[in-house]
Amino acid sequence: MSHTPASIFAQLNVDLGERSYPIIIGSELLTDVELIRSLPGKRIAIVTNTVVAPLYLERLSATLEAAGKQCVPIVLPDGEEEKNAENLMAIFTALLEQKCDRKITLLALGGGVIGDMTGFAAATYMRGVPFVQVPTTLLAQVDSSVGGKTAINHPLGKNMIGAFYQPQLVLADTATLAALPDRELSAGLAEVIKHGAIIDAAFFNWLEENIYLLRARDAGALAYAIRRSCEIKAEVVRQDERESGLRAILNFGHTFGHAIEAGLGYGEWLHGEAVGCGMVMAADLSVRMGYLSPAEQARLVALVKAAGLPTTAPNLGESRWLDLMEVDKKNEGGQIKFILLKPLGSTSITAAPADLLSATLTACTHP
Ligand code: NAD
Ligand code: GLY
Repeated sequence: MSHTPASIFAQLNVDLGERSYPIIIGSELLTDVELIRSLPGKRIAIVTNTVVAPLYLERLSATLEAAGKQCVPIVLPDGEEEKNAENLMAIFTALLEQKCDRKITLLALGGGVIGDMTGFAAATYMRGVPFVQVPTTLLAQVDSSVGGKTAINHPLGKNMIGAFYQPQLVLADTATLAALPDRELSAGLAEVIKHGAIIDAAFFNWLEENIYLLRARDAGALAYAIRRSCEIKAEVVRQDERESGLRAILNFGHTFGHAIEAGLGYGEWLHGEAVGCGMVMAADLSVRMGYLSPAEQARLVALVKAAGLPTTAPNLGESRWLDLMEVDKKNEGGQIKFILLKPLGSTSITAAPADLLSATLTACTHP
């Protein structure tokens, strides 16, 4: 089998002392035998799903074997609704059936669902085994594969059961994005926009100018957006790995977004769609709090729309919204905490008066 040679666009580092690790961003990394040889361990359990396995499992297994490693494939059902205790247990069962010991490396091949679930399995299998992220969605390459948050969902709240557990390596192969549906590409752009909105106004400007190139999958634009997103996330995680403060800003749009996901049932809206709409709602609340100008709010709404994401939320009913947002890891003493823009390019973490929140819920949801 002949393959396009691998090319590496960027190598970054997540600086966390003894838990530091590289993020390698490039094209055709899955067929690079020398790179794959550098993975930790001799025996690698590749955790993936029924959509990604037919696309990349054979290719990655062949490279691993060429690099002298032994593969244990574990293929789970696809979808956000499958990010649950049953599938976590399915990973453990497969590992035990294959007599995998503490030297096994767990490799997540897929999007954020596979990454989060495999990471949690790696954190807990035999009290912790090596973990590698091979993200194959834009969302996973710009966000979920970096930073060590791992989790499964609970019917009462998203990502409620999990652990902080860093991978030893992130390999983001941008060639895998060729197979990604447009709707999933847009979902990934939500987290890219988030990074600009919370911390880097210049990057936000760049996104406004380049959003159509990104949607057209221009290789240079995508590589830059992935690299800049990983740089921003790596720096926030370096400063606050376990979210005792600063890291919460990465949840901009997520308080509303997680309520949409849980409220409609996981998998109805994509995570990135819920975050896109959640950012619009958080911007609306920011204006009502006097933190953000209507002109900046309009720029955010326009960019979210241009990314192909929804900007009006489903009508869950106010009491259901509040119920869902009250189950959020950021909350303290029963108060819902929001990440608001103050102004575009920086944030404030705060509770909001009930009348302003109610006005946002009315203004931003379908009648
Ligand atoms: P996903 O993992 O469900 O992937 C989206 C879809 O694309 C799935 O159907 C998947 O099988 C498919 N897919 C994956 N790679 C593909 C490819 N190359 N070609 C074609 N199809 C492909 O969703 P996602 O958007 O990647 O991730 C969302 C999840 O990530 C959510 O559960 C969210 O909570 C989590 N998340 C975690 C963090 C974190 O820090 N850990 C950050 C952001 C999001
Ligand atoms: N996606 C939020 C975080 O990683 O902290």
